Amino acid sequence: MTLHLPQNSPTVYSVKRVPDYKNNSLKAWNTSDEFMLWYVTHHKLSSLPHLIINDAFGYLSSHFMSDNSTVVYHLKSQLEAIEFNLKLHLKTFTPQQFITPLDPTKSKVQLALIKIPKSLELFELFLQQIHQNSDSNITVVCGFMTKYFTPQLLKIASNYFNDVKQTKAWKKSRLLVLSVPKQVKYQSIIQDIRSEYGTIKQYKGVFSSGHIDYATQFLIKNLAIPQQADTILDLASGNGILAKVIYQKHPKANIHLVDDSILAIKSSELNLSGQSFYFHHTHHLDEFNTNTFDYIISNPPFHLEHEIDLSLPKRLFTNAQRVLKPNGIFELVANRHLKYYPILKRLFSRVDVKAQNAKFIVYSCRL
Ligand SMILES: C[S@@+](CC[C@H](N)C(=O)[O-])C[C@H]1O[C@@H](n2cnc3c(N)ncnc32)[C@H](O)[C@@H]1O
Repeated sequence: MTLHLPQNSPTVYSVKRVPDYKNNSLKAWNTSDEFMLWYVTHHKLSSLPHLIINDAFGYLSSHFMSDNSTVVYHLKSQLEAIEFNLKLHLKTFTPQQFITPLDPTKSKVQLALIKIPKSLELFELFLQQIHQNSDSNITVVCGFMTKYFTPQLLKIASNYFNDVKQTKAWKKSRLLVLSVPKQVKYQSIIQDIRSEYGTIKQYKGVFSSGHIDYATQFLIKNLAIPQQADTILDLASGNGILAKVIYQKHPKANIHLVDDSILAIKSSELNLSGQSFYFHHTHHLDEFNTNTFDYIISNPPFHLEHEIDLSLPKRLFTNAQRVLKPNGIFELVANRHLKYYPILKRLFSRVDVKAQNAKFIVYSCRL
């Protein structure tokens, strides 16, 4: 099949970037999404049973959502953004049409659209899910911005499909079009990280593959959990490493873990068991009352895919301030280049630098 390029940009719905939907300067899609939309429309593929995978804020879903669609999300914020934009465009859908990368599809799919994630492991997890749930005549259309191309994309794709084609660039984006599934022996989607804190398990695509993050290690070395702390929050908990270390020091505490990624939450459930732990798949702290926690610990996120996005930690710090008890302590680690101090100082009356080295700073904050 010849891979043509679009002549014009397709007509598009205006999709909002949630939760910053009032800020019109932030775009909720890019030309790789437009390229995928054009490809599917041009080849008249949208009536096939299909998967829409890793849609950022709902651009692809808003165009294609029908009874034939299943949407694969991994972030709670992503799910909420897609639902918001579907409602905005008066699209009907059912909760059963949303699944995670760990779920099977209801029936075999013939088309899959993937917005390629920054994490190549996550890309592979998506391909494995498609491969397990596809017809032999499946077409997989993957969109990405050319500047993020790596030969690894082709290598991973060719682990699962015999036919791997790449388009020329269009408006700085490209597509990979995959077909003819290979006979595959599936690899485990869970990996082990051996560390001085024990073996940590995590699903592919979870933060810090293969080792405990260096910022996290620095934070652990400098932990000073108040003796009387009995309600603790691991904010942006990933595989649960911080909660695990805290439990080793404070086995009587109730420890809540919050993460936006379902793969992170499911990973932490593999590492922590028992009545001390409470798992929350969410990207905010609305479910907690004010003054709930004695101690909050975090290695907070500051990336949204390839972009640095400081609105993310800012929102988490504001939430942490609300749920911290009056005598509580919020401790976090940051890369030195991130200017968190003024942000924290606006929210907390006391912000101390507890430890620092050439790369990282640990802050300790009190109301
Ligand atoms: C820097 S990692 C830290 C993970 C883990 N605590 C560790 O130290 O290895 C940040 C985590 O924040 C999560 N995350 C991103 N945005 C979030 C949000 N709005 N709310 C909660 N978690 C979020 C990511 O999924 C990721 O697991």
